[in-house]
Amino acid sequence: MKLLAGNSNPTLTKRIADYLGIEISDVSVRRFADQEIFIEVHENVRGQDVFVVQPTSYPANDHLMELLILIDALRRASARRITAVVPYFGYARQDRKPGPRTPISAKLVANLISNAGADRVLTLDLHAAQIQGFFDIPTDNLYAAPVFSRDILERNEVEDVMVVSPDVGGVVRARALAKRIGAPLSIVDKRRERAGESEVMNIIGDVTGRNCVLVDDIIDSGGTLCNAAEALINKGAASVTAYITHGVLSGGAVARITASKLRELVITDSIEPTEAVLNAHNIRVLSVANLLGEAISRTANEQSVSSLFD
Ligand code: R5P
Repeated sequence: MKLLAGNSNPTLTKRIADYLGIEISDVSVRRFADQEIFIEVHENVRGQDVFVVQPTSYPANDHLMELLILIDALRRASARRITAVVPYFGYARQDRKPGPRTPISAKLVANLISNAGADRVLTLDLHAAQIQGFFDIPTDNLYAAPVFSRDILERNEVEDVMVVSPDVGGVVRARALAKRIGAPLSIVDKRRERAGESEVMNIIGDVTGRNCVLVDDIIDSGGTLCNAAEALINKGAASVTAYITHGVLSGGAVARITASKLRELVITDSIEPTEAVLNAHNIRVLSVANLLGEAISRTANEQSVSSLFD
């Protein structure tokens, strides 16, 4: 087995390598003056089972291109099997046509990864589960839920907890976590009653006195989360914490979170955290390295991956 990576998340790759007890293979990723990417794999990979760790996070296009070129290099070097390990699958939010003459970019990216030569994909908390079907190669979608539920139960009495979906679209994900920890579920329902009027946040469920746990797949600008936290506090929640798998955190998101009513935002290291994230007083990062490492090990040994979540 070989483990290698582009420049997207070296810390996570190192943690995965440590879990597996192997070294990261020697690869150089360089840029020509015009920013074209040039990649060299400095080890023989002929006949090997190769895992390429590369979340397609900011700068998304550069990291995606690195992933594609790495896969191409490995295919031409006769790797036996190439698994694209993409803990954060960028472009996932473009999974349908929002209007006429718009792309389905998530499908395009899935095609690019397959056509580059990947034999399998290993990813985490896809924005929409059906993106799995955009690939015609085996695709394992892992869940951060076991990592999150362990942390939630370590820090709360379960009878005080209310799991909350920040919007109607996230109910399935939130319900699964609620079921896993044995807590009830509440939903933030955003509605604009009339065009031109601001959105009203209705809370479905009684959150009075509860430690609310907001669950989502992505935090980007932080708008969804901060608004939901405020609505929950206004409805009498004792505290609001959020568990979000992918900390995209673009623009002024970190400042928005630190100034918000959130007691804490917990994200994973599917995306390499920036200094601002690491220094924020109310943001904590949990590692998914062991989860990914175990899934890689099971894939290499032809064992069940789904049983990781039983
Ligand atoms: C939306 O469907 C996603 O699940 C997230 O709720 C969304 O991407 C969060 O974006 P933001 O942090 O910019 O509100």
